[in-house]
Amino acid sequence: MRTLIIGAGNMGRGIATRLLAGGNDIVLHDIDSNAASELAAELKAAGSKGTVRVGTPATDAATSDVIILASWYGANLDLARQFAGAFDGKVVVDISNPLNDTFDGLVTAPGISAAETIRDVLTPSTRVVKAFNTTFAGTLVDGNVSGQPLDVFIAGDDQAARGVVAALVRSGGMNPIEAGGLERARELEGLAFLGITMQGKLGTGFRSGWKLVTPKAA
Ligand SMILES: NC(=O)c1ccc[n+]([C@@H]2O[C@H](COP(=O)([O-])OP(=O)(O)OC[C@H]3O[C@@H](n4cnc5c(N)ncnc54)[C@H](OP(=O)(O)O)[C@@H]3O)[C@@H](O)[C@H]2O)c1
Repeated sequence: MRTLIIGAGNMGRGIATRLLAGGNDIVLHDIDSNAASELAAELKAAGSKGTVRVGTPATDAATSDVIILASWYGANLDLARQFAGAFDGKVVVDISNPLNDTFDGLVTAPGISAAETIRDVLTPSTRVVKAFNTTFAGTLVDGNVSGQPLDVFIAGDDQAARGVVAALVRSGGMNPIEAGGLERARELEGLAFLGITMQGKLGTGFRSGWKLVTPKAA
C-alpha cells in the first residue's frame, strides 16, 4: 500500500519503519524538507521490503491509499484545513495526542477528541481513522516490547477505512484492534495520556505498550 506520512519526526520514523518492513511504499513529507530527506535516506540505507521517497501532500495525496498525519495536534489540524481538497475521499489517519504545553492535560474540550475535530474540518467523504496514538515511537522502531507484538487500537466511522488501516498495521507485524467509531478516539486519547503520565512513575522510559488480553487472538 502507498502511504503518505506527513511529519518526519519520532513517529514518522517509527511508523515508516514498521510499514516498510511490511513491504509498503512510503512517501515522507515534513515542513522541514531536510528532515524528510534525511529520514528517507536513513530508512533506505537500513534496507527493507518496501520503498521510501520524499514528496508533498499536494503532489502525492491523490495517489496514496492512506495519509498519516504524524505531527503535533495543532499542526495536524492546520494540515487538514490546508489540504482538505487534496484529502477528499481519502483514508486520513490522525495519530495525535492533544497534550497541553505542560503535558499534564489535554487541550481538547471534554466530550470530543482531536480526531473528531480534524474530521470536522475535512470534507464529509474523507474517512478519518484514529490509530497509533497509543504506541510510543521507540516501540514502533523496535516492532515489539520484550518480544510481544504491539497492539494498535483503531477507531473510525467507516468500516472499510478501518479495515485498510488494520491491513497496514498487520503488514508491519503489529496487532490491529478495532475499537469502534471515531468517537472512541476520545478514550484512545485518554488512554495514551494515561500512559504518558505513568512513564516516570513506572520508569519505563516510553518503552511500554498497551496490550489487550483476550481469550483468543484479537
Ligand atoms: N512520540 C511518541 O512516542 C508518540 C506516540 C503516540 C503519538 N504521538 C503523537 O504523534 C505526533 C508526532 O509526535 P512526534 O514525537 O513524532 O513529534 P516530532 O518528533 O516533533 O515530529 C513531528 C514532525 O512534524 C513536523 N511538522 C510540524 N508541522 C508540520 C507541518 N505543518 N507539515 C509537515 N510537518 C510538520 C515537525 O517539524 P518541526 O520539528 O520543525 O516542527 C516534526 O519534524 C504528536 O501528535 C504526538 O502526540 C507521539
